[in-house]
Amino acid sequence: MKLNKNLIISFVVILSILITSIGCAPQEDTEDEGNQQPQDNQQEDQNKKAEIPSPDEMILAAEEWKEKYPLIYESYQLTSRYKDGVTENPELGGSHPLDYLKEYPDIKVLYDGYGFSKEYYAARGHYYALNDVINTARPKPGASCLACKSADYEKLIAEYGDDLYAMDFHKVSQEAEYGLTCYTCHRNEPGQVQATTPQFNVTVEKLDFELKPGTEACAQCHVEYSMDSETKEVILPWDNGLEVGDIESYYDDMDFYDWKHPRTGTPLIKVQHPEFETYTGSVHDKLGVTCADCHMPTMKENGEEYLSHWAKSPLKTVEESCGTCHSSEIDGLTEKVENIQKETEEELLEIGAMLVQLIEEFGSALENEHLDDETINELWDLHRKSQYRWDFVFVENGNGFHNSEKARKTLDEAKDYAQQALDILSEFQ
Ligand code: HEC
Ligand code: HEC
Ligand code: HEC
Ligand code: HEC
Repeated sequence: MKLNKNLIISFVVILSILITSIGCAPQEDTEDEGNQQPQDNQQEDQNKKAEIPSPDEMILAAEEWKEKYPLIYESYQLTSRYKDGVTENPELGGSHPLDYLKEYPDIKVLYDGYGFSKEYYAARGHYYALNDVINTARPKPGASCLACKSADYEKLIAEYGDDLYAMDFHKVSQEAEYGLTCYTCHRNEPGQVQATTPQFNVTVEKLDFELKPGTEACAQCHVEYSMDSETKEVILPWDNGLEVGDIESYYDDMDFYDWKHPRTGTPLIKVQHPEFETYTGSVHDKLGVTCADCHMPTMKENGEEYLSHWAKSPLKTVEESCGTCHSSEIDGLTEKVENIQKETEEELLEIGAMLVQLIEEFGSALENEHLDDETINELWDLHRKSQYRWDFVFVENGNGFHNSEKARKTLDEAKDYAQQALDILSEFQ
């Protein structure tokens, strides 16, 4: 049985936001090692600021590039592939709307009081990003939810300024002409990666290393974020670094929480989709492999090579995505990945059950007024730490594969904190 097939994605989410100054887009070659990708590196030069096109000429539609890059254009259109019930092997790739609430009933308890306890589907292809966010039942705090769903976001900021973030989502989304398109990763210069999401462009300078274009393009959105409680600006919590503990300390320092659990009152953090943070520091990252190397490999059609723009599970293109390095073990590679995912899933289920028990016992002890303030504070702290770590791995879309070491360590800590809380609670039974 494959427990984990379609993973724990988290995407259907709101993303979002901010700031008018968009900077730092690559114009020139600096790229060197590692990247086994198409050459003639159009890489990046941190000192260059790309000009944002003026609002009336701002976004060229994907169709404009159809003639010049037919194979890329067609492959990009395949991100719509699962429309109308077209499915390939559903065991691989997770590209149909898997309902997490049915699959993982524990999350109704863990996310009680928060939007994800109402609706939570797995991510699909990029083609659907805008439609899917418009159609979720989860409440949307503001127009900043469009930041990772529509190429029009920069243009909307140019029009409305910082007021945009908190504006009515449904009203503003009617003005969005495009979803995720070529412009999102290239502006109007396909071939060069130019990040366009404002939250990424204002935060990336805090990192003490440079991103390769094949990772930068994705780190615009496949990241953890929060929203400023007043302005609804999207914030990337990178001030202290990208490690699980760094992000936690960033939130702790500002007493941040996404919601309080209705049974226990614990101020909790809801993690989003920290693919980039998880991947950073992994075996493959250290080798210089980028997100695009695995997810958008070079394909061949009628003898012509092109860079696939059908961002999807690399398990569908193992030969092309992994063959350069793992050629001698290609046959067993998918199984290796799945073993890591399965191990991760089992741990997640076990810790999820511990957290359910924690919430129930903590809730009843509070109702029965068994706990003094000091104990309550201590339990809040342990619950917050444990659930944050469980969530960090649960919502990450590689299901452990992107960085098995980090996933394991994070889950060990989650388990340890949950156990400490349960030990304390057992004294009050
Ligand atoms: C070494 C190859 C590799 C690299 C590099 C890599 N991934 Fe993945 N990624 C995978 C594999 C394998 C899966 C699991 C796919 C599956 O279970 O079908 C996956 C799953 C995903 C998924 C879920 C896809 C799905 O259809 O279920 C997303 C989203 C994702 N990765 C994003 C990223 C991002 C963003 C980066 C860079 C920060 C990245 N990946 C780097 C191999 C890679
Ligand atoms: C989600 C981000 C994303 C989107 C959307 C996107 N691209 Fe790309 N594109 C990339 C990345 C990443 C690369 C590889 C950059 C690198 O590694 O140097 C790339 C490379 C390219 C290249 C250079 C290919 C080569 O062989 O060197 C072209 C041309 C291109 N894209 C065209 C397009 C067109 C046309 C569209 C829309 C139909 C599009 N892209 C949409 C991320 C994107
Ligand atoms: C502008 C934001 C944005 C950028 C940039 C972006 N993604 Fe995504 N990605 C999304 C969203 C949103 C979804 C989920 C769409 C849905 O379910 O409607 C998604 C879904 C995916 C999936 C799941 C697809 C499936 O069929 O299940 C993969 C894989 C993925 N992205 C990889 C990448 C890679 C690799 C890059 C960089 C080359 C990238 N993404 C860049 C927002 C983004
Ligand atoms: C640039 C070369 C390179 C590419 C591309 C690459 N790998 Fe790896 N991979 C390595 C090396 C080196 C290691 C570490 C040695 C080992 O365990 O084989 C590794 C390790 C692994 C491991 C064990 C990791 C762990 O956490 O225990 C798995 C599984 C794996 N790779 C799968 C893949 C898959 C699947 C792809 C394609 C989607 C891929 N690799 C692409 C070089 C690569």
